[in-house]
Amino acid sequence: MKLPARVTLVEVGPRDGLQNEPSPIPTDIKIDFIKRLAGAGLATIEATSFVSPKKIPQLADHTEVIRGLNLPASIQLPALVPNVKGFNNAVDAGVKHIAVFASVSETFSQRNIHCSIEESFVRFTEVIALAKQHHIPVRGYLSCVFGCPYEGKIADDVIVDAAKRLLDLGCTEISLGDTIGVATPKQVREVIAALLTKIPAEKLAGHFHDTYGQAIANIVAALELGLSTFDSSAAGLGGCPYAAGASGNVATEDVVYLMQGLGIETGVDLEKLIAAGHFICQHAKTPNRSKVAAAMGKK
Ligand code: HMG
Ligand code: MG
Repeated sequence: MKLPARVTLVEVGPRDGLQNEPSPIPTDIKIDFIKRLAGAGLATIEATSFVSPKKIPQLADHTEVIRGLNLPASIQLPALVPNVKGFNNAVDAGVKHIAVFASVSETFSQRNIHCSIEESFVRFTEVIALAKQHHIPVRGYLSCVFGCPYEGKIADDVIVDAAKRLLDLGCTEISLGDTIGVATPKQVREVIAALLTKIPAEKLAGHFHDTYGQAIANIVAALELGLSTFDSSAAGLGGCPYAAGASGNVATEDVVYLMQGLGIETGVDLEKLIAAGHFICQHAKTPNRSKVAAAMGKK
């Protein structure tokens, strides 16, 4: 099988990583963290989300974070947007790339974004139409692709239909969320093979949480099927408050080390990335969950 020469890493630490951290993190520390990630070579960094501050108080400073960044336009700083209100706030703050987030599980949709899957598509249709007017590219997330905390395994045809719908609405790519980190490589191969019957590999990305320690193996399985975009979080932070028991995203440090071993370019300086991971863990008062950061031993 032929592996890609280069992969795109979407760093989700400032958003997925920090949305669930119990310790409040000052805005200037978030800004510093994002700048350190950019300095390590990460060119796409999901910076925050424009959701209800009552639901996700950790990211209530979204506007200040975006306005405080001032990074070159070559660094993409997407933000999550659930509805028109979030879209307008994101545009006011200066956001240039957004992501909408749907689920393939009805119950998770209700818990996470307080509406049915069908209602969420109505909201996303409005958001994507506005984004087109503003020339803002939209990424689409699908949660619970490999299992739902409430409904278990979701049927492949439901997943393929939802991914197709998001693409047909105008999303540039679909990030396949293993929200609770339960997937194993066999399942990843099966679900992605079903998706590939309707969708080209370059439109799909892997978003693996690492609850059961399978994320790196799952990334290799997805790579072998032609995927070349992966989401990850510095220091392995992350989790969704509406997915109890889910642990962090796969650590970016571990993904970079994997890619180095496979001879695949990421554009990331591993030492600088490890330093950025330690920096945010010290401020979030949380352990660094990257195995590679622990093995390379620098604090
Ligand atoms: P809603 O449908 O309006 O209803 O919000 P609600 O009862 O949930 O919230 C109502 C209140 O939120 C109202 O304020 C609205 O004005 C306000 P109140 O009258 O009570 O003062 N509101 C907003 N405020 C700020 N920005 C907005 C906004 N919209 C409404 N955009 C909503 C729906 C989705 C906004 C809400 O349920 C929410 O914020 N949920 C949190 C969703 C979230 O951020 N989840 C985590 C990210 S998803 C994830 O982690 C999965 C992913 O990583 C992939 C994977 O791993 O699977 C992407
Ligand atoms: Mg996630």
